[in-house]
Amino acid sequence: MPRLTLQAVSKRFDTYLALDAVSLAIPDGAFLALLGPSGCGKTTLLRLIAGLEMPDGGAIHFDDEAVASEVAFVPPEKRRIGMVFQSYALWPTMTVRGNIEFGLRVAGLNAVERAARIDEVLEVVGLQGLGDRRPHELSGGQRQRVALARSLATRPRLILLDEPLANLDAHLRETMLSEFRRIHSLTGATFVFVTHDQDEAMAVATHVAVMDRGQLEQVGTPEELYRKPASPMVARFIGRGRTLPVKVIKSEGGRNLVMLGRELLDLPGDAPVGYGWLCFHASDLRHVTEGGQLKTELVGQVFQNGTFLSHCLPTEVDGDVVSLPLSERLSPGTPIKLAFTGGWVIGDGNASREAANVTGTSSACRPAVISLR
Ligand SMILES: Nc1ncnc2c1ncn2[C@@H]1O[C@H](COP(=O)(O)OP(=O)(O)OP(=O)(O)O)[C@@H](O)[C@H]1O
Ligand SMILES: [Mg+2]
Repeated sequence: MPRLTLQAVSKRFDTYLALDAVSLAIPDGAFLALLGPSGCGKTTLLRLIAGLEMPDGGAIHFDDEAVASEVAFVPPEKRRIGMVFQSYALWPTMTVRGNIEFGLRVAGLNAVERAARIDEVLEVVGLQGLGDRRPHELSGGQRQRVALARSLATRPRLILLDEPLANLDAHLRETMLSEFRRIHSLTGATFVFVTHDQDEAMAVATHVAVMDRGQLEQVGTPEELYRKPASPMVARFIGRGRTLPVKVIKSEGGRNLVMLGRELLDLPGDAPVGYGWLCFHASDLRHVTEGGQLKTELVGQVFQNGTFLSHCLPTEVDGDVVSLPLSERLSPGTPIKLAFTGGWVIGDGNASREAANVTGTSSACRPAVISLR
């Protein structure tokens, strides 16, 4: 049974629809990363799960208990949830033990039980011996561990983390990420982890959910989102993917025959016949001297990791710059022919494209300007 189920959950702030009928089922013990552009509703979703906001429609269940629905609302302190924020939110005048103890007091544990629980979680997060320090006597990473220890102490069934690593430097982020993974498998709790950083998400998550403008675009394993995006937004968002408009000629047995400009390609996909998108990453392209289905022009190169990361702009189809490593330095303007070795074809959910713009991308699906890396 899924631990956490959201059924058509909506949330309005005045007239603004911050969440639009979001449905999601998260299995027990999952580590779900919630990804999406700023303002897409990630924090709002966490706050609804935590009980800090009430939905305007839909229902939220923990196991088979309705915690929010038209007829039920379980307050946050009764939901057995732990929350960790970017800002740690520790009480500065209390010691580490005091910070952790507070929630245990509220939960009604006696002094002996509280002391045992504090020792247990300090060991889990690797802070034995630092219990008597105050937050200002700790490093950023240690403070974040205290925040996590505090949320683990009440043995929650669900831990919600809202960009917990955003205040840490790159090295510490990496260390804390593997700590989160270790603690996740040690405790067996279900984690929902909001982040801006998809590399971070792909590294730790068992499942990834991508949101855009209050809607859930796709949920799947990191590999599924990377290899089989369900929408152009997900394709472009995950792994610096690119999309090109295609016409699907044939659809059979998990493969699609598509026209990309004047080139015919046979690629994996499940798009119906009609307009569609070819979704790909730089690793799906090979530089060739003859042929190639994507004609581009070199717009710039940077020397990186022993190769020349080359930015190439398609010249015969409407698409964004694609960046891939080439072995030699070339001058800007050099024609670069690229052949597809992989990719994934999806249908165009936006039926208006045919009427609005037959050759180009529709405005709704048109990628925002993608800056060169
Ligand atoms: N209390 C509120 N009152 C009015 N509007 C709100 C409120 N909380 C959030 N919003 C709006 O709802 C939308 C979603 O906000 P939310 O904080 O969930 O985004 P987010 O995905 O967490 O963004 P970020 O990545 O920047 O943290 C935003 O447009 C925001 O301005
Ligand atoms: Mg947020």
